[in-house]
Amino acid sequence: MFENFKVPKELVPSDPRFGVGPSLIPVEALESLAKTGTSLLGTSHRKDAVRNVVKELQEGFKKYFNLPAGYEVVLGNGGATMLWDMIGLGLVEKSSLHFVTGEFSEKWYKAHKQIPWISAREIKVEAGHGLNPREEPGYDFICCTLNETSTGVMLSDIPKLGGQNILMAVDATSGAGQIKVDFNNVDVYYFSPQKVFASEGGFYVAILSPKAIERALRLGKDSSRYSPECMKWSHAIENSRLNQTYNTPAIATIFLMNEQVKLMNKLGEDKVIEEAKKKAALIYGWAKSKPYLHAYISEDKFRSHAVATIDVDDKFRVEDLTKVLRAQNVAIYIVAYRRLNRNQFRIALFHNVSYENLEKLTRLISLAIESEK
Ligand SMILES: Cc1ncc(COP(=O)(O)O)c(C=O)c1O
Repeated sequence: MFENFKVPKELVPSDPRFGVGPSLIPVEALESLAKTGTSLLGTSHRKDAVRNVVKELQEGFKKYFNLPAGYEVVLGNGGATMLWDMIGLGLVEKSSLHFVTGEFSEKWYKAHKQIPWISAREIKVEAGHGLNPREEPGYDFICCTLNETSTGVMLSDIPKLGGQNILMAVDATSGAGQIKVDFNNVDVYYFSPQKVFASEGGFYVAILSPKAIERALRLGKDSSRYSPECMKWSHAIENSRLNQTYNTPAIATIFLMNEQVKLMNKLGEDKVIEEAKKKAALIYGWAKSKPYLHAYISEDKFRSHAVATIDVDDKFRVEDLTKVLRAQNVAIYIVAYRRLNRNQFRIALFHNVSYENLEKLTRLISLAIESEK
């Protein structure tokens, strides 16, 4: 199916990268990296050249998210997957409550379940449905996922917690930067940079409230709790305060992320989010207008502004069409999350994916399907 489909020239997007991560890194950012020549890559991450970039990045995030006083931007190697363990080991006092809406939130829950000295419980909805977090008695740690990348569900509300000794933690990996959060209601907000912040993987950013920092440093002193040295929050916090990481980072990753934060700070968070909403309206509006398409997330308020999931009538095989588009280098990596096993497009609405290119993508997909009918 679709093997004879040739994308008309006027519908070829200027960049084929619509994938939800690793995401589109602007070629200009790569050129800026190359221009650093001998001054950055291959120099020490403990010296000023690199530490100044780290500092600029931390300040950039503070500005972008308008962080309340006392919140700290902690950085380190390992990515969000590693943080699931690091959080369970070093931030959950006795019990975590997980709001599970898909594969990534489930994996976080499973990571905590394996730690013998804490207990973890999940509250789960079927894939394709949304669920906002809430407080429940007996838990000192709430875990939720801002944007479930596997399904395209976002949170619509993160409530303020009432309890004194309870922390709200948000995996913001694919939503950070494009889905608004009130940081006064959040204690731990973390993400990997290979999504909206257009850098490489293997690294994390964790924004911690004063309450979270206090807990991390207190639990870190409890010798009855085991933590591998490389997962100790005290190391991460102390080094981040010095604009460093505990062990050697990929400097290119930090540089590229900083370029993206600078780019997004030129517009500011509100404007970036406004643009994301316009792209979301375009994609979901397209799905509504075509009888062979259907937005996977039925409830409007949970439909993501960062990752759109659009089901396609089984008569038209998405896999076949994506193969043809990839072969022509027109659109790459726009299939459903593999374990969802759906005939579905999953498309990044990230800041670097332009409205014009998304519009072309919708038109060329429609053209391909309508030529098969
Ligand atoms: C919501 C979410 N959490 C966590 C992860 C894991 O991130 P990493 O692969 O950087 O560890 C991903 C990866 O796509 C994700 O989408």
